Amino acid sequence: MKTALITGVTGQDGSYLAEFLLEKGYDVHGLVRRNATDRRERIEHLEGRPRFHLHYGDLSDSASIVHVVNQVRPGEIYNLAAQSHVQVSFEVPEYTADIVAIGVLRILEAVRLCRLEKTCRIYQASTSELYGKVEACPQDETTPFHPYSPYAVAKQYGFWIIREYREAYGMYACSGILFNHESERRGETFVTRKISLAAARIAQGRQEKLCLGNLSALRDWGYARDYVECMWLILQQETPEDFVIATGEQHSVREFCTLAFREAGIELEFCGEGMAEQGIDKATGRVLVEVSPDFYRPTDVVNLLGNPAKARTKLGWNPTKTSFEELVKLMVRHDMELVKREAAVRA
Ligand code: NAP
Ligand code: GDD
Repeated sequence: MKTALITGVTGQDGSYLAEFLLEKGYDVHGLVRRNATDRRERIEHLEGRPRFHLHYGDLSDSASIVHVVNQVRPGEIYNLAAQSHVQVSFEVPEYTADIVAIGVLRILEAVRLCRLEKTCRIYQASTSELYGKVEACPQDETTPFHPYSPYAVAKQYGFWIIREYREAYGMYACSGILFNHESERRGETFVTRKISLAAARIAQGRQEKLCLGNLSALRDWGYARDYVECMWLILQQETPEDFVIATGEQHSVREFCTLAFREAGIELEFCGEGMAEQGIDKATGRVLVEVSPDFYRPTDVVNLLGNPAKARTKLGWNPTKTSFEELVKLMVRHDMELVKREAAVRA
């Protein structure tokens, strides 16, 4: 039986990947940190399964990582744990660097210390944020990096230390350079989920308006459930290589908003520019979306578009399994139900 260790198993991607690997027959081990609330809603349906195991640990704590790696002796490690919020990385840059950059080094060293460097394959959750202030469009595996936030700078260290250990020690260690991927499990402060929840709440009279930052930012948004398959495929290749994972389609935050509100039954019209731009309900004239400086970043990445040609050819992966329109629909439908249930509980 294959054994995998997932860091960040309680996150959006970790929870989908755990499901995916369990279906493939893996013994799945997840690293979890101790939290005051012990809320693990994304994986609670997996807890208690015989091949699903959780271990306490923290990417800031080398000893805990060595201990878990030695106990589990995994054939594959998926390092997904991170302080993954770009805007938050401006508030907590040192912590972000410790987890997002040095955390990767701690995993690599734990594997070496446990003498698993010849047998254990490592997947590193890298990111399109590396392209940051983009130097070419679309971006592929050859596009130069220009990280544009403390988070992205830390991820750049993670990318290079993975490559360094691959070349220096012959380890099977690679990075998936994943463009944004969303889902009904996305954290509520990332822009897509913030919008899908707001659209559902506003449509059901539970929220007045939605305040956003840069409406013109462009992203290549895919569906997280589709993307975890690539993480696995990347580790099944004969030689370790890095891959860009993206849909090859680009949309603005404004466009996401328009589709999300439409799915919730509201036709939006955007008027004005910059901070004065507003999203207005065509039917009632009510202002439902406003722009706030609170959600602007000191430096913002505004033009991400990936070229998934290598993943398509070498991994045989279909980048558009779930279309952008389907993604928006499934998130809003999920949140419409969620808001209904919350309202019923309150009533
Ligand atoms: P997420 O939902 O924010 O999940 C992050 C996970 O990391 C959570 O399980 C969190 O645990 C864990 N974690 C945070 N700090 C930790 C620490 N010090 N020690 C151990 N665990 C820690 O992120 P995601 O969207 O699933 O993303 C997964 C990975 O892919 C991240 O590395 C992210 O940077 C990267 N990435 C994401 C995207 C995307 O669009 N989603 C794109 C490219 C790259 P708690 O539950 O305890 O907080
Ligand atoms: N979060 C947020 N909130 N973003 C907003 C808002 C808002 O109210 N208004 C506009 N935006 C813009 C941001 O300025 C950014 O340009 C874009 O929407 C996307 O922001 P996020 O959803 O927070 O995602 P991200 O692209 O910064 O980072 C995510 O994707 C990266 C891959 O490119 C995270 O998942 C990272 O961990 C991941 O590496």
